[in-house]
Amino acid sequence: MEKQCIYYVAVLFVHHFTSSLAVPAKNLTTDQSALLQFKAHITSDPRRVLTYNWSISNPVCRWVGISCDARHGRVTTLNLSSMDLGGTIPPHLGNLSFLVNLVLGDNNFHGHLPNELGQLCRLRGFSIGDNKIGGVVPTWIEIGKLTNLKIFHMARNHLSGTIPWSSMGNISSLQSLSLTNNSLSGSLPDDVCNHLPNLESLTLSLNGISGQLPASLGDCSKLQILSLSYNKFTGHILQTVGNLSELILLYLNDNNLAGEIPREIDNLQGLQFLALGSNSLTAGLLPSRIFNISSLELIHLGNSGLFGSLPTDICNHLPALRHLRLSRNMISGTIPKNINNCTSLEFLCLDENSLTGTILASVYVF
Ligand SMILES: *[C@@H]1O[C@H](CO)[C@@H](O)[C@H](O)[C@H]1NC(C)=O
Ligand SMILES: *[C@@H]1O[C@H](CO)[C@@H](O)[C@H](O)[C@H]1NC(C)=O
Ligand SMILES: *[C@@H]1O[C@H](CO)[C@@H](O)[C@H](O)[C@H]1NC(C)=O
Ligand SMILES: *[C@@H]1O[C@H](CO)[C@@H](O)[C@H](O)[C@H]1NC(C)=O
Ligand SMILES: *[C@@H]1O[C@H](CO)[C@@H](O)[C@H](O)[C@H]1NC(C)=O
Ligand SMILES: *[C@@H]1O[C@H](CO)[C@@H](O)[C@H](O)[C@H]1NC(C)=O
Ligand SMILES: *[C@@H]1O[C@H](CO)[C@@H](O)[C@H](O)[C@H]1NC(C)=O
Ligand SMILES: *[C@@H]1O[C@H](CO)[C@@H](O)[C@H](O)[C@H]1NC(C)=O
Repeated sequence: MEKQCIYYVAVLFVHHFTSSLAVPAKNLTTDQSALLQFKAHITSDPRRVLTYNWSISNPVCRWVGISCDARHGRVTTLNLSSMDLGGTIPPHLGNLSFLVNLVLGDNNFHGHLPNELGQLCRLRGFSIGDNKIGGVVPTWIEIGKLTNLKIFHMARNHLSGTIPWSSMGNISSLQSLSLTNNSLSGSLPDDVCNHLPNLESLTLSLNGISGQLPASLGDCSKLQILSLSYNKFTGHILQTVGNLSELILLYLNDNNLAGEIPREIDNLQGLQFLALGSNSLTAGLLPSRIFNISSLELIHLGNSGLFGSLPTDICNHLPALRHLRLSRNMISGTIPKNINNCTSLEFLCLDENSLTGTILASVYVF
């Protein structure tokens, strides 16, 4: 991994000597000037976090939000999350050549991300969620220099366009990709997981992504979190999700998925959060075997065309269940008394079914 960076620097030097283009070697002074340029692009700092602290009279490595490594004495972390900062992100940050973590989440940054950030070949964590960054998902993540990138989070920004999957596939280090609540379109490519073999978390909810779920999603064998809810996916809920044995969270609700809930979901014995409701599923029998996945904390199978009755022992295997939504189905019979054995239940929603009976104390009905 380190080799890539060294190789990259060597190329720069060759370039330097052969074309005599001035490419100054970078050091802590370069880091300081890059950060001062960044400060100059901050137009709003109501808490005056940087005003006095980020000053040349203080050593850079002691500035708030900055960490340096002991070996090279260079800036490795820029973390100013939740500081109410506003402004744009200048290209100069691309000069922080030892940067490992760039964390600017939960601020008011706007504008586009500069391509120069693609030079940050040591970057492992990139978290700029909860800002107002516009434009497209930056194409520099596809350049293939970011071979160490593990985390890429840009949830809740103003990104549009499609995700540059085919080329992002070269980032085999990527573990977590979060682009929830932007305005992204396009679809998931058939080979999404062949390119991102180490993906543990994929969260793309609240976008406008369409097309079918690729069967190869079942090849993302390390996937623990898969959240694709509130998009425009069509096709079926794949049987291959049953291969994702590490899965903790599966949110596919509020799409246009058809077909039935596949039996293979039962294989997911570590599942804690399951939401498949509000799709266009074919009417089918309530998959009561799901109530045997004892790790479940949340079940949302509302508005799913389900009929049949609730198992009389519904809660015997669900000690952790906090949230159960089965509303807007065709479930009949009585509400089992056993529902009171779900001792962790905080949210229960069974309305718009054909159920009779009452729900005992301590359970809220919505
Ligand atoms: C960084 O390099 C520049 C020349 O490129 C030099 O003038 C400066 O003194 C160096 N700073 C440190 C801290 O080594
Ligand atoms: C800058 O902020 C950091 C972190 O809060 C603090 O440790 C440091 O003392 C501050 N420096 C000055 C000169 O105020
Ligand atoms: C960034 O800083 C915040 C608080 O200052 C801290 O909670 C968070 O863990 C830090 N994130 C990283 C990736 O260092
Ligand atoms: C830092 O980056 C900017 C913009 O990308 C560039 O113009 C400048 O020459 C760089 N500065 C140094 C000292 O490397
Ligand atoms: C990605 O890797 C493939 C081979 O693994 C290569 O053919 C392709 O050019 C690379 N793409 C980029 C953008 O580097
Ligand atoms: C999604 O983002 C919009 C603003 O862009 C916001 O109003 C909305 O509350 C967000 N939705 C969720 C569920 O976070
Ligand atoms: C749940 O598991 C128990 C044994 O652990 C079994 O007797 C029962 O039939 C299962 N229920 C369903 C609906 O699969
Ligand atoms: C609740 O669970 C206990 C112990 O597991 C069991 O004895 C009891 O019959 C259950 N109550 C109902 C109503 O099923």
